[in-house]
Amino acid sequence: MPITVCALVGSLRKGSYNRYLTHACQELAPDGMTIEIFDRLRELPHYDADLDGATPPEPVVALRSTIAQANALLIVTPEYNYSIPGVLKNAIDWASRPAGKSCLNKKPAAILGASTGLMGTVRGQLALRQSLLFTETYALLKPEVMVTKAADKFDAEGRLTDEPTRTFVRQLLEALIPWTNRLT
Ligand SMILES: Cc1cc2nc3c(=O)[nH]c(=O)nc-3n(C[C@H](O)[C@H](O)[C@H](O)COP(=O)(O)O)c2cc1C
Repeated sequence: MPITVCALVGSLRKGSYNRYLTHACQELAPDGMTIEIFDRLRELPHYDADLDGATPPEPVVALRSTIAQANALLIVTPEYNYSIPGVLKNAIDWASRPAGKSCLNKKPAAILGASTGLMGTVRGQLALRQSLLFTETYALLKPEVMVTKAADKFDAEGRLTDEPTRTFVRQLLEALIPWTNRLT
């Protein structure tokens, strides 16, 4: 069965290692899996319940329907100050509503991240898992993919060149297939 995956990237900057890592996911996706980046996180206003009425802002509607239509979610994010970037948290907050009918509810997901440091987003991923616990998003447990010292793992064009990391990425995406099929 083909699997469509909606990817959220937690960094907005052009030369983002996490964006490059998402491109590597697209390149290494197993047969039958397509990964599309929802590339509009910068258009989302800060979450404001007063805007979240009968007609929410258009980018919010797009975010929610894109996630709802995808079979699975892929979140690729840096760690900021031992947590996730505000831009990603804001997207999760919008997607988490309306309560009880959220597109994140029971959605299979895989998470991974790259940082320039030695811990490779380990704390950020734990913080992300905590939010996904509340939204009842089924985040795949293993393998955990933490890309450390990101500056050494990509070439000048942003291609993921580190072979062990490429293998981890492949393993994560392969594990997402039975996880998604079991849960949907
Ligand atoms: C505001 C801010 C906070 C950061 N906090 C952390 C951190 O807690 N842990 C870490 O490993 N790296 C941290 N970094 C460094 C990031 O790993 C590095 O900037 C990385 O390249 C960001 O991902 P990107 O390349 O996808 O933008 C931080 C960077 C910024 C800008």
